[in-house]
Amino acid sequence: MRERLVAGNWKMNGSSAANQELLAGIIAGVPAGGGFRLLVCPPFPYLSTVCAQVQGSAVKVGAQNVSEHESGAFTGEVSSRMLADIGCEYVIVGHSERRAMYDESSFQVAAKFQAAQAAGITPILCVGETLEEREAGATESVIEFQLSAVLDAAGIKAFASAVVAYEPVWAIGTGKTASPEQAQEVHKQIRAQLGHKDVDIADRVQILYGGSMKGENAAGLLAMPDIDGGLIGGASLKANDFLAIAQAAAQD
Ligand code: 13P
Repeated sequence: MRERLVAGNWKMNGSSAANQELLAGIIAGVPAGGGFRLLVCPPFPYLSTVCAQVQGSAVKVGAQNVSEHESGAFTGEVSSRMLADIGCEYVIVGHSERRAMYDESSFQVAAKFQAAQAAGITPILCVGETLEEREAGATESVIEFQLSAVLDAAGIKAFASAVVAYEPVWAIGTGKTASPEQAQEVHKQIRAQLGHKDVDIADRVQILYGGSMKGENAAGLLAMPDIDGGLIGGASLKANDFLAIAQAAAQD
């Protein structure tokens, strides 16, 4: 049985005081039961403080972005080694907001994925189609292309220490959720694409769903055989909302 991962992507939200309160609430309310892991991904300036605050708790810390470069003259960028240095264990790469608003290509995303792994950080690779792509019947080919870019660059073995997140762009921040069946169809496709290269690795990789996941719909999504957790935006900003999803992810 794969461990589940419930990851909060705080995006560009929060403050020192708000984060402190949110984290205290999450740490105090971690549900009983096992088989799941909690992760929070705050903005860069708060990473160190959050890493210190979660010490000794069941909560892990990840970043929302990382440079594909190792070090040097890249003003404003943050390297994987820096993230590892302060205790970050995960990083989100290829979020659709970065692909769309900052023109990140699938090839750049692949380079970030590799840079993270080189520093011992687990990348959470986001893939997902827009509404236009879905309506044009292109979901399968879009996901396949985004995943192939990373598979070609990093190889299948890299997925032994990586997480994939399927985030349909039309379900992000819109309140619209993919139905469990719609999500499962894509998750299954992702696992099959990895499985063509290595069945064992494909079987072990965690595939998260992201896109308006909340307490009310989490159990239905998590009941699907290829959905191993969530990458949560809005509902990760309130301890009770995030914990409701964690509760749905807890396995006996
Ligand atoms: P929402 O949960 O707010 O739809 O955001 C999903 C997301 O983008 C997580 O990375």
